[in-house]
Amino acid sequence: MSKLLVIEASPRGASSVSRNLMQSFVSNWKTAHPGGEVLVRDLVETSMPHISMPWLAAYFTPPEAQTPEMKDALKLSDELVAELLSADEIAISTPVYNYNIPSNLKSWVDHIVRKGITLGFDGAGLVTGVKASLIVASGGTYGEGSPIADRNIAPQYMKLLLGVIGITDVTVIHGEAAKNVDMGETSMADFIAAHTDSLIKAATV
Ligand SMILES: Cc1cc2nc3c(=O)[nH]c(=O)nc-3n(C[C@H](O)[C@H](O)[C@H](O)COP(=O)(O)O)c2cc1C
Repeated sequence: MSKLLVIEASPRGASSVSRNLMQSFVSNWKTAHPGGEVLVRDLVETSMPHISMPWLAAYFTPPEAQTPEMKDALKLSDELVAELLSADEIAISTPVYNYNIPSNLKSWVDHIVRKGITLGFDGAGLVTGVKASLIVASGGTYGEGSPIADRNIAPQYMKLLLGVIGITDVTVIHGEAAKNVDMGETSMADFIAAHTDSLIKAATV
């Protein structure tokens, strides 16, 4: 049985374009994987702490020498890593904020890159054989010919990071010009429909 880990980052609930795109992706994924399990980690519902001194102290202490306080400092990170390692496939949906991913998703990244668990001491990624779909919503347009194409850092960063931990099979679905939905120039349904083919392909292949 396949297991899909879904990571959600937008705080905008039902108005979120990335969440609506993800809803369609998950529905297509379920059709393509009958009996498959979907595990959702919502980074808006989970309080995502920044890396702190106690966290770092725990991180750099071998597990057998960690105090109960250190184990506690790593508890959320351990949970997030376990979720990631339990999945056959991962789908991440995110808004673009200030040309990059929002801080809750960056915090997730900081918690799941763990030396010796997801990243080998030799620098090789340890999360192998996992396929990823990255669903991005941005107000702007960064495709070919865009004068601001070089500012398209969010997908670039996430692909880089996933590659670092060993996830190299990454499909990006970029919902560009999502501001048209907020401005009422396109309906959410039409916006999602325009990405149906890519969503089905990513969820099925
Ligand atoms: C704080 C903030 C910063 C944003 N920064 C950018 C940006 O740098 N580039 C861009 O294309 N869109 C930007 N946007 C627009 C969002 O990417 C767009 O509204 C997108 O639909 C948000 O995803 P969501 O609908 O899933 O919440 C920003 C929106 C907000 C609220």
